[in-house]
Amino acid sequence: MLISWHESVGSTNDVASALASEGRCSPFVVAARQQTGGRGRGGRRWVSPIGGAWLSLAWLPPAGWGGWSLAPLAVGLAVNRVVSDLLAEPLRDRVEIKWPNDVLVGGRKVGGVLCERPWAGREGHDWLIAGVGVNVSLRSASLGEGLRVPAVSLAELLDDVPEVDDVVERVVYRMLSLLRLVGSEPGRASVLSEVRGVLAWRGERVRLVQGGKAVQGCVVGLDPDGGLVLRDDTGAERVVCAGDVERLSLESETLAV
Ligand code: BTN
Repeated sequence: MLISWHESVGSTNDVASALASEGRCSPFVVAARQQTGGRGRGGRRWVSPIGGAWLSLAWLPPAGWGGWSLAPLAVGLAVNRVVSDLLAEPLRDRVEIKWPNDVLVGGRKVGGVLCERPWAGREGHDWLIAGVGVNVSLRSASLGEGLRVPAVSLAELLDDVPEVDDVVERVVYRMLSLLRLVGSEPGRASVLSEVRGVLAWRGERVRLVQGGKAVQGCVVGLDPDGGLVLRDDTGAERVVCAGDVERLSLESETLAV
């Protein structure tokens, strides 16, 4: 697998999209030591100094690939597995996915995923650009204050901090194998079941904000397309497909590091 390393780019997702549009062979990876214009979900800025694994996988799935709706979850699961593999008990049991694909350890965010499909539906050009950011050796304080979810880095969780390059390679390997898996029905079922097992805030009250509208309810689980199932006060269940979830429960279980 070709990993192109850059000292500094605006956003690895943008570089990967540009290379894909120029005809680079699938799959390939763009990784950077730092990003000056890192992008997060919902149009937010993603602060990306030296000390993080900032990478984008560009992949042209086979024709008729049925994994699009689960791709963001599959990539989140890839990051979740990499982080779990690196941690020992009891922290390993506290690695969760906050829907749709934030990876948390003890309630703090160690990694995030931005999946994009720049030419959606264009036959022969329907690339998936899967961007991943993992805080590796940086200090979470360097990511700024007032984050929506408190941050943590692997260096704050581990005595033996892995090299950034090692984390990038592990993520790429896991990502590709899980993306290939969600192209089949049994693969989709197995990814959904694994994500359900590590889904953050199950049974807890959350608010989901999407396009200025807020929905509240208890987290029940995931539907077959990876949507979040919430139960409202009347007992009715609804599925949400996009948006940002925040926890409404009073008690905070954020890990102190
Ligand atoms: C989020 O949690 O909001 C998603 C963050 C995704 C960040 C990664 S870093 C590599 C890639 N390039 C970007 O500009 N964003 C993603």
